[in-house]
Amino acid sequence: MTVQVVTGTGTEIGKTVVTAALAAAALAAGRTVAVLKPAQTGLLPGEPGDVEEVARLAGPVTAAELARFPDPLAPATAARRAGAVPVGPEEVAEAAAKLATGHDLVLVEGAGGLLVRFDGQGNTLAEAARLLAAPVLVAVPAALGTLNSTALTAEAARARGLEVTGTVIGGWPEHPGLAERCNTGDLTEAAGAPLLGAVPWGAGGLDPAAFRQAAPGWLAPELHGRWDAAGFRGTWADR
Ligand SMILES: Nc1ncnc2c1ncn2[C@@H]1O[C@H](COP(=O)(O)OP(=O)(O)O)[C@@H](O)[C@H]1O
Ligand SMILES: [Mg+2]
Repeated sequence: MTVQVVTGTGTEIGKTVVTAALAAAALAAGRTVAVLKPAQTGLLPGEPGDVEEVARLAGPVTAAELARFPDPLAPATAARRAGAVPVGPEEVAEAAAKLATGHDLVLVEGAGGLLVRFDGQGNTLAEAARLLAAPVLVAVPAALGTLNSTALTAEAARARGLEVTGTVIGGWPEHPGLAERCNTGDLTEAAGAPLLGAVPWGAGGLDPAAFRQAAPGWLAPELHGRWDAAGFRGTWADR
């Protein structure tokens, strides 16, 4: 798999932190990595965006952003309010495909959740993923409510013909409560795809060297890591 689309069950779930972990683990495994943010909203020119955050944490990746709109809104709305041309799915697919010719792995980070509009025609990240025939990894919360939002996202992805690679918990708490612990067991059924990792809460605040060293320990072997799903569940699920 060369192009991996990274979405989340919503905004502020940890897509960027998960993308950084994916990039760091792939780099540690000797892969070349590009990170593509089709539309960055809520920032002015010159401010560091999600791809800069991924590069800061993960290391030498090719970072690409196709458009930036200052309002912190869905890309379609933010583009409209800026009087700017929105980013269409063909543009996203073309950019990702081009990066894929020169990198082992291309990570495409969406904006918000899967069905957030990118343009005035109702196109979403899902349409770009469909054009690329790229699988979708879903960053999910650990807390109560995640089973529903995870199931909705996975079902919507499959309804659009997309393969769901799996889920990664965007922020695993230091002191998980009952819901978090049980969710480690139930997320797989909710997603209809495996839980492939858990990034600890606070990981985004680690210094980059510590982040890079730890990242493979947060992700399953399918994602170039050494995280053990059964061990993680055994530690938490039924406590
Ligand atoms: N594992 C984590 N460690 C530290 N901070 C996190 C973690 N997950 C999320 N955050 C914080 O929560 C916010 C949202 O995370 P982010 O990765 O930017 O989410 P998204 O890309 O889904 O909007 C950020 O301020 C980020 O620093
Ligand atoms: Mg982000």
